[in-house]
Amino acid sequence: KVIDIKALGLSSPGEEIVELKLEYPDWKPGWRAGQFVMIRPVSWPLDLVWGRPFSICNADDSSLTILFQVVGRGTERLFELKEGDKVNVWGPLGTFFSKPADRPVLMLAGGMGIAPFCGYVDTHSQPENLKLFFAHRPALENYPYKSLSDKVEVEDIRETKPEDIPAIITRVDELVKEYAEKDGLITACGPMPFLRTIWNAANKYGADAELSLENRMACGIGACLGCVAKDGDGHHTQVCTTGPVFKATDLSL
Ligand code: FES
Repeated sequence: KVIDIKALGLSSPGEEIVELKLEYPDWKPGWRAGQFVMIRPVSWPLDLVWGRPFSICNADDSSLTILFQVVGRGTERLFELKEGDKVNVWGPLGTFFSKPADRPVLMLAGGMGIAPFCGYVDTHSQPENLKLFFAHRPALENYPYKSLSDKVEVEDIRETKPEDIPAIITRVDELVKEYAEKDGLITACGPMPFLRTIWNAANKYGADAELSLENRMACGIGACLGCVAKDGDGHHTQVCTTGPVFKATDLSL
């Protein structure tokens, strides 16, 4: 059941960013940051057959929180949900980020790619080893990632105009180099151009990197071939069953 639904602001005209909290009594503790759930409101019409995939932001024994952007019919309908509405949830699904206890970890988040990192920080045994770099539109300032800065180092870059992007790319390259040199782990989630920058830098510096892909999904269970990416040998792989989190060396971006 919907516990809370909160509009955070517009990322661009018409594209609302929304935080949704669900009561989920059958939730199995043991979810891992980077995994996702498929969500389909009970009230959706039959022509909206499939659910939608969402990265888990955070969860406890009986609830989970997701973040989404209103970009089409499905997410528009999700935004219309009210407290108490019923929703079908499948999950947790997919692969997840590693959590080495004794190595520095860099979290690179682009826009909505912040979602898995709140849970990552909250479930990590040594948050003092973590650093978050977050490049985002101003609307995401209303997302409670700011509470993370009490626990981890946060470098927060507001992207307000296209001219900001080269500076973000340069900074990401520097950070990947720094973490490669100190044998850190790089974790990343965000839009494809952002991930491609990180993938290129990880190859250049030989960094240990894990990337979470945000491919579109329909079934979430390997049945529709709607989520294909290329593996390290250039062969097709399904993000919903072999991802969404991949070692950079297991991908071709
Ligand atoms: Fe259907 Fe991956 S979403 S195969």
